[in-house]
Amino acid sequence: MAQLLTIEDLRLLAKRRVPRMFYDYADSGAWTESTYRANEADFAGIKLRQRVAVDMTNRALASTMIGEQVSMPVALAPIGIAGMQHADGEILAAKAAARAGVPFTLSTMSVCSIEDVAGNTDKPFWFQLYVMRDRAFIERLIDRAKAAGCSALMLTLDLQILGQRHKDIRNGLSAPPKPTLANLINLALKPRWCLGMLGTKRRSFGNIVGHASGVGDMSSLSAWTAEQFDPTLSWDDVKWIKDRWGGKLILKGILDAEDAELAAQSGADALIVSNHGGRQLDGAVSSIAALPGIVEQVGGRMEVWMDGGIRSGQDVLKAVALGARGVLIGRPFLYGLGAMGEEGVKLALEIIRKEMDITMALCGKRDIQDVDGNILVKGKA
Ligand SMILES: Cc1cc2nc3c(=O)[nH]c(=O)nc-3n(C[C@H](O)[C@H](O)[C@H](O)COP(=O)(O)O)c2cc1C
Repeated sequence: MAQLLTIEDLRLLAKRRVPRMFYDYADSGAWTESTYRANEADFAGIKLRQRVAVDMTNRALASTMIGEQVSMPVALAPIGIAGMQHADGEILAAKAAARAGVPFTLSTMSVCSIEDVAGNTDKPFWFQLYVMRDRAFIERLIDRAKAAGCSALMLTLDLQILGQRHKDIRNGLSAPPKPTLANLINLALKPRWCLGMLGTKRRSFGNIVGHASGVGDMSSLSAWTAEQFDPTLSWDDVKWIKDRWGGKLILKGILDAEDAELAAQSGADALIVSNHGGRQLDGAVSSIAALPGIVEQVGGRMEVWMDGGIRSGQDVLKAVALGARGVLIGRPFLYGLGAMGEEGVKLALEIIRKEMDITMALCGKRDIQDVDGNILVKGKA
């Protein structure tokens, strides 16, 4: 096997090992994918200042995100059906995150349930909530996350209705895959994945099946989820959820300074500048382009994080330089998971950590806390 030195190496290996419908599900954006591409491309346009003859010994990447100690300011983003990239995917990713000293976020739409992840890991994780029409179900989800010891609730605001990804429609995406001829042929080419799946019972939406009324099998589940995302979601709901949860609250999916202002007024602890990895509003600006304006608007009042397009430690450093207290990574860890399970997620985090460390040093900084706009070439930010 070729040496795995970059996130791109992990992507290529994941592409070989993961069934096509799930690989495509990860590596795609809405409609023309212009925002998906811009998330990555806009990082490339930001240039770092190379500094020399400054002491680069004893470097430190440790930081905090909403008061929690992190070994570097990078968290794993919530990912729906991560357990379809690799058997038991959410549990494996949570374990790798704990080993690396960074937070893991479990999606509402995960394969492994909240209780299952809590029962198989020993570090508290964050729980991501989608607002569903069935408010009793939301109440139960919040209570379940509390009972499982989740240390923060991440409320996703940018998916009131579903963006469209053409590949998912063409591939007939479903979890587990339907036994069509095309799927069976593709699965036959992915023996490692199939063996993993045969060895686990975790193959559908663990937080939903058996927990939402009337959802018992796959067809009732698809019908339920398709109509459950709530188009009426409002700031009053955010307040209701904040009160019901009563702990640390992170708002995910803010891309506009006006919305950021409302997020700050809501009393949440952090917001994430995000366009859902380019999977919702195609044509929206990249997250990194939106970050500075949002930091300027609310940076003094709440933590501002970002996600979207981070593929290297250099990208993390650029985001921190532009005012992000922390970042989330989605696809980078997902590719690691698809490529090599827990070890792949660990490797993805190691790659990013090493790149961050060396880049920070070559910019003349020894502590991530001292990284600011000064490490960037002016006029490119
Ligand atoms: C396959 C996939 C599934 C996702 N599922 C969710 C989800 O269930 N909940 C959520 O809030 N965001 C979800 N996201 C968005 C991520 O949390 C994150 O915002 C995005 O992946 C960041 O961009 P990046 O992949 O370029 O790092 C998903 C993203 C991907 C790629």
